[in-house]
Amino acid sequence: MKENLTNLIQSQINWELYSAYSYYAVAEFYRAKGLSGFHAFFEKQAREEIEHAEKLSEYLQDHDIAVKLSDIKALKEEFVSLRDPLLFFVKHEKEVTALIHALYREARSEDDLETMEFLSWYVSEQGEEEKSATDLLQKYDLFGANGGLGLYELDKELAK
Ligand code: FEO
Repeated sequence: MKENLTNLIQSQINWELYSAYSYYAVAEFYRAKGLSGFHAFFEKQAREEIEHAEKLSEYLQDHDIAVKLSDIKALKEEFVSLRDPLLFFVKHEKEVTALIHALYREARSEDDLETMEFLSWYVSEQGEEEKSATDLLQKYDLFGANGGLGLYELDKELAK
């Protein structure tokens, strides 16, 4: 595997861990608001991000490349309304999609067929994550934004 691609994968590992760290922050925000379903949803999301990072690490290790871990930034966003983290979720996933696409394009430009095949899982996973983020924001706007029973039901649904 060429150096450019390796560096991008190393950096993607950090991004996935940053995503996990950010979703833990979101989970904690909702826990403090008493929304245990939203909390559980984002805690699960954080665990999935760790799995994304682990899968990339394993791939490097399988190719005898040492994984270099760098500092994980703390989330800078200040959430005020219940909607803020949901908007962050959508924006963040779109950003990650762009990074995954750049990674895929780099593998393609290096004619690294194995890595392209490996990364195709991430390309579809990002499609699903973006959909899940936009669906949640839409549901919140439709049913949860006015609080009351709508928000209660949405929280209950997210707890599942
Ligand atoms: Fe691993 Fe949500 O991107």
